[in-house]
Amino acid sequence: MRKKIVAGNWKMNLDYNEGLSLFSEVLNMVKDEATGSQEVVVCSPFIHLHSIAQLAKGSAKVSVGAQNAHQNESGAFTGEVSAKQIKSVGAAYVILGHSERRQYFGETNELLAKKTDTALANDLKPIFCIGETLQEREANTHFDVIKSQLVEGIFHLDASQFAKVVIAYEPVWAIGTGVTATAEQAQEIHAFIRKEIAAKYDQAVADATTILYGGSCNPKNAHELFAQGDIDGGLIGGASLKSRDFTDIVKAFN
Ligand code: G3P
Repeated sequence: MRKKIVAGNWKMNLDYNEGLSLFSEVLNMVKDEATGSQEVVVCSPFIHLHSIAQLAKGSAKVSVGAQNAHQNESGAFTGEVSAKQIKSVGAAYVILGHSERRQYFGETNELLAKKTDTALANDLKPIFCIGETLQEREANTHFDVIKSQLVEGIFHLDASQFAKVVIAYEPVWAIGTGVTATAEQAQEIHAFIRKEIAAKYDQAVADATTILYGGSCNPKNAHELFAQGDIDGGLIGGASLKSRDFTDIVKAFN
């Protein structure tokens, strides 16, 4: 049974006290809701990580993650944060390859392959983001784009390393737009991703891989999305900033 995950991506939101307050609310609301093989992950800005990781220590279901990590172990990279530093404050996960980092910071599949290696070397579990733009979907090149993101970003890993990776399919045209992919659209891509994993590794690896959907997922659409055979949870942006909405999405598996 592959892990079911609802992960929140707070992006560049919440000052220190706001973040601690929200996390405390989520921790209290989620503790009775996350059932079975389900895990809840909160990916906060760096400023919150140590404090929320300490708060999460008492929970078997909730863990924390970062939203990026540098590809180098350490060095003269002013303003950057390393995977080792992120691990040292208690994070378990790190989002890599989010479309906003690809778009605004020029992160390429080649760079993200290095980031993935360094994250794994420091015992962080990558949440590796892939997804097409509206232009790519309208040009019907979205399957090629997603395949190249897989092949160039994470298919260099051996099966044991790959087993630590969570994949998040986030159609760029659905992020922050309120235009959610339909359950059928999302399932089609998730099934394609799983088929590519099976072809690269084997069916057992593919069946064990957690593939999340992200892009305007909310309490109204989460249940239908999560009911799809190849959708194993969500990577939640805006709705993760409201404790009730985020908790309702966690409950959507039930
Ligand atoms: O990483 C998740 C994020 O990109 C989705 O954002 O606001 O559409 O849920 P949102």
